Amino acid sequence: MANTFLDRAVEIAQGAGKILREEMDRPPTISHKAEFDLVTQADRRSEAFIVSRLQQYFPGHAVAAEEGSGKDTTSEYRWHVDPLDGTTNFAHAYPCFCVSIALARKDELLLGVIYNPVYNELFTAARGEGARFNGKPIRCSNIDALKNSLLCTGFPNHDRQSNPNFHFYWDFTLRSHGVRRDGSAALDLAYVAMGRFDAFWEFGLNPWDTAAGVLLVQETGGKISDMQGQPYTLGGPSILASNGLIHDEMLRVAAQVGHTISRS
Ligand code: IPD
Ligand code: CA
Ligand code: CA
Repeated sequence: MANTFLDRAVEIAQGAGKILREEMDRPPTISHKAEFDLVTQADRRSEAFIVSRLQQYFPGHAVAAEEGSGKDTTSEYRWHVDPLDGTTNFAHAYPCFCVSIALARKDELLLGVIYNPVYNELFTAARGEGARFNGKPIRCSNIDALKNSLLCTGFPNHDRQSNPNFHFYWDFTLRSHGVRRDGSAALDLAYVAMGRFDAFWEFGLNPWDTAAGVLLVQETGGKISDMQGQPYTLGGPSILASNGLIHDEMLRVAAQVGHTISRS
């Protein structure tokens, strides 16, 4: 049964990716959800496709999709859908964006699919069965010191003034090989799962940004918590995803930064 779910999710993510590729060849149609929060025709077309396919294949399931076309049901199964993660990149033709789809049963993530249609890179995970990159099993990196790590973070498009992340960005930049800001939280998490990044953190993400990527990291030997070391819950205020080996060191740095912020 779980494999049927995963096969369907892959089929749907690749179909949505095809739509994003088509839209890339057209002039972007950008509108604003807020001053810096963009939405394009690509987001809407991709979401309409994903939601209609999920409803066709799994009519009773709940669907939580970013642009609001999902539906709540009493089902214990819930799909978390980001039809285009990296909208700002897409709107500027910066080729770093993806489709992210995850299925949870009650609070347990069962599967996750992240698809980058530009590079045809497919990341999949199923609970208890590991994760794959274009069909091949993957693991997190084995970097065991922050000073040897490559990190990634992001900054939300909303509530920018109150986001504390610049302080963390500064500190982690000085203590690592560098901090990338790629603009797609789902891809950032997938890259932790396959070892391109050693860790990723962000404040203020939504369930559709992280659900698939969290399972990928969990299934590849990584660790997930919030920035204070407490268990991460979907939609919680912060997330830290790492290869597991540098997690505690990052939490110690984060605690120092948090302490400095609270004193200033
Ligand atoms: C955004 C991206 C970005 C992150 C933002 C998200 P969207 O999602 O994941 O990397 O920094 O917080 O909102 O809006 O492109 O789906
Ligand atoms: Ca997103
Ligand atoms: Ca999105």
